[in-house]
Amino acid sequence: MKLSHRITHLTGGGSDGWDVFYRARRMISEGVAVTELTIGEHDIRTDPSILSVMNDAAVGGHTGYAMVPGTALLRDTVAARVQARTGVPTTRDNVLITPGGQAALFATHSAVCDAGDTALYLDPYYATYPGTIRGVGAVAKAVQTRAEDAFQPRAEDIDAAAEDAVSLLINSPNNPTGVVYSRETLEGIAGVCRDRDLWLISDEVYDTQVWEGEHISPRSLPDMAARTLVVGSMSKSHAMTGSRCGWIVGPEEVIGHLINLATHTTYGVPGFIQDAASYALSEGNHLEDEIAEPFRRRRALAKEILARQNTVGLIPAQGAMYLMLDTRATGMSGEAFANALLDTHRIAVLPGESFGQAASGHVRVAMTVADEAFAKSLETLCDFAAQLVADKSMRFSETG
Ligand SMILES: Cc1ncc(COP(=O)(O)O)c(C=O)c1O
Repeated sequence: MKLSHRITHLTGGGSDGWDVFYRARRMISEGVAVTELTIGEHDIRTDPSILSVMNDAAVGGHTGYAMVPGTALLRDTVAARVQARTGVPTTRDNVLITPGGQAALFATHSAVCDAGDTALYLDPYYATYPGTIRGVGAVAKAVQTRAEDAFQPRAEDIDAAAEDAVSLLINSPNNPTGVVYSRETLEGIAGVCRDRDLWLISDEVYDTQVWEGEHISPRSLPDMAARTLVVGSMSKSHAMTGSRCGWIVGPEEVIGHLINLATHTTYGVPGFIQDAASYALSEGNHLEDEIAEPFRRRRALAKEILARQNTVGLIPAQGAMYLMLDTRATGMSGEAFANALLDTHRIAVLPGESFGQAASGHVRVAMTVADEAFAKSLETLCDFAAQLVADKSMRFSETG
């Protein structure tokens, strides 16, 4: 039987740099002790106080169909939080609750792209971006950012790609680079969106994990609220990855259409999950600060370790739970380096090539193991890279 082109072409096909991840998982299942620094899953779990509210809500009967747009309480809580943090007037009519940020990425692209439309995204990118765009029938077009700009996008590069585009997807703080877009970068991006009449889809799921600089939501820039759809999530901020609770914030008219889409796709998010999310968000900063703290600490450790050597470069780690390391001095691709590190030292990191072409020759390190193991792994990684460089220059001098 024939399957749709859309579903069979969702992923790009071929080797995508994730082989090293699956190999590490296989080794772990066979009992090999691998230090896993691959995916963005916290090493702490959802706070017990959040689980207790979730349990009470479920036992208390909030287990039937919830309102499709989200409960009034959670929509109001998200709206108040967004307004307080950005200064942009926001009400529950600007908010749709979704089953996580990923569903919000799919819904926002469904809302603004027709089949065959071009949707832009920035390389390096979070792994699902091109597939999400292809999944709504649009054409995914990457705009490269550059290691020499610390992966801050250039407005002129976006502009040059924007001729036939309807939307642009950005992500700051960024996965995989850990870069936080500066005000200047965001103003440049906003200018292109206004000039080229683009929708801006702003993935802000790491907005509570900022180590340097400040998180600026582009929805708060002049004339941007009418063309920006913000994607948010409880996954990263509150270690609630498994609860599947996120949101879209945008113009009322778009949210109205997105509620129709939700009625025909997800039919909402469980009420007891939403009650737990409302509680967590109304607790102010303390729960999200607790979640962010280990990453802040490990990022400081990483800066110290990287400063002691000069083989591996650190892309400025300003936010999110990842480090992007430049391993080009070894002369190897990120994929070859990651495979060799796994084979030699049982440390699993992801090749930059898993996230597009712009980060080739780099590896992404998730800061998701305890401090001591994290520091030891980073030191080993740096020593390994230095050894590879020394071996390379030895071979070079032997061959003359
Ligand atoms: C940049 C980015 N956006 C969105 C998501 C999706 O998050 P969730 O669907 O768990 O909210 C992730 C998850 O890793 C991510 O890194």
